[in-house]
Amino acid sequence: MTAAAALVRGRAWVGEAPLFAPVDLRLEDAGWTCLLGPSGVGKSTILRLIAGLETGARFEGEATRDKPVALMAQDPGLIPWLDVTGNVTLGARLRGTLRQGDEPAARAAALIKAVGLTDRAHHLPANLSGGQRQRVALARTLFEDRPLVLLDEPFSALDARTRAQMQDLAARLLEGRAVLLVTHDPAEAARLGDRILLLRETGLTEWPVPTLRPKGAARPYDAPEVLQLQARLMRGMMA
Ligand SMILES: Nc1ncnc2c1ncn2[C@@H]1O[C@H](COP(=O)(O)OP(=O)(O)O)[C@@H](O)[C@H]1O
Ligand SMILES: [Mg+2]
Repeated sequence: MTAAAALVRGRAWVGEAPLFAPVDLRLEDAGWTCLLGPSGVGKSTILRLIAGLETGARFEGEATRDKPVALMAQDPGLIPWLDVTGNVTLGARLRGTLRQGDEPAARAAALIKAVGLTDRAHHLPANLSGGQRQRVALARTLFEDRPLVLLDEPFSALDARTRAQMQDLAARLLEGRAVLLVTHDPAEAARLGDRILLLRETGLTEWPVPTLRPKGAARPYDAPEVLQLQARLMRGMMA
């Protein structure tokens, strides 16, 4: 077996109550792993453990990663006094590697265009809708250009059409990376998962994914086999 890009093995409690049964989650070097489950089962906790961030839970086990990581947290976490461009390029600004007119600035502008916010590039977060803020956070995460990418419900605030477009964009730009996508949406898992892991209070179950995802793309949202997978995942969540 090849080295994992990241893994979480163990269990967690919130106070005295178990949050999830023992899990063993391994991210391969490339491809999208979807962690699907209802709210409150511990999806964000698992993602934050991989990122090495604080969680509200007590964890017993091991959580490791062996690659530089980009994280899109469930809350967009934008800096209120920086405009869209400033937020997208935040990492480069902090590293002191951004200068006007150079390659990162051009890449940021291209990403802002790709998420449909060119006409908002100089707006502050307070003047954006929830969906627009989420797209800024997505562009910021893509700008980081890391081999391991953790996405916590990255499309949850988007309308159905924009969501499908952003899923296509992320699939294209993150081809070949190790991606962990946390989602509560079976349709999203059915479009994007190379592997789908269902998290319930009783533990983590790997779900069979019958069709390969096209390279650099999400599966078509209207293909019968994708709709079937979505329906089966919904049943799994209801069980
Ligand atoms: N900071 C916190 N303080 C107290 N409890 C928390 C905190 N963060 C999470 N929890 C508890 O852990 C549970 C799982 O949280 P989370 O990992 O965010 O679930 P999910 O992402 O699947 O919705 C929540 O239902 C909540 O009860
Ligand atoms: Mg969550």
